Amino acid sequence: MSKPEINIFDTKKEVAEAVVEKIKELSDSNTISIALSGGSTPKLLFSIMAARYKESIKWQNIHFYWGDERCVPPNDDESNFKMTKINLFDNVDVPEYNIHRIAGENNPEGEADKYGEEINKNIEGSPYPKFDLVILGMGTDGHTASIFPHQMSLLQSHSICEVATHPESGQKRITLTGRVINNAKNVFFLVTGADKKEKTAEVLLEKGNFKDYPAYHIQPKGKLSWFLDKEAASLIA
Ligand code: 6PG
Repeated sequence: MSKPEINIFDTKKEVAEAVVEKIKELSDSNTISIALSGGSTPKLLFSIMAARYKESIKWQNIHFYWGDERCVPPNDDESNFKMTKINLFDNVDVPEYNIHRIAGENNPEGEADKYGEEINKNIEGSPYPKFDLVILGMGTDGHTASIFPHQMSLLQSHSICEVATHPESGQKRITLTGRVINNAKNVFFLVTGADKKEKTAEVLLEKGNFKDYPAYHIQPKGKLSWFLDKEAASLIA
């Protein structure tokens, strides 16, 4: 693995605060594309962005996409879009046309193709669109975005988006593929909590079954940064 930048903070809140600052830096003088993640740390990130950066972030400079979405309607509690809307979009002035929602209510296969076309139309890059930033979490099983260990082929798909399936619930998801994520200029992993410490250590120290975890295979040509709280980092620091 190329050496990622590893940032360790005392608390989940400090992780989120550091990431907001990075997003502000990236977007202050450039129009950027960000692929968002679901999960608990991004939820805190969005609420801090809304509470403290409403006036200081240039929202018109940021185009929001998703790295993955559950195949549910946008008003469903499972929806990553709904979580972002409640915690961020409802509280700041992001232009509507800057929000590129995955239509989780649509047919999954059709939406995976349609969203891939939306990304291709708006984001340059060859052979894959090049996001300025992809924000990721990591599950306790080592999944990232909606690439789960039982579907490692999604890492190598030549499509921009694919339909994934949650291993326990069977819930269908739309996810960016590994090749698109690895083509990004910046990839941020936001990983917090003691329940992530084993997988974090396996992935970052290349121990145990690290090759079985999709998160390990996120090794972008661009810059890879991990943002950890001390609980998640307790076996590596
Ligand atoms: C999702 C996320 C998923 C998430 C991990 C970690 O749609 O659920 O994209 O990949 O990042 O499950 O979630 P936590 O940060 O809440 O543990």
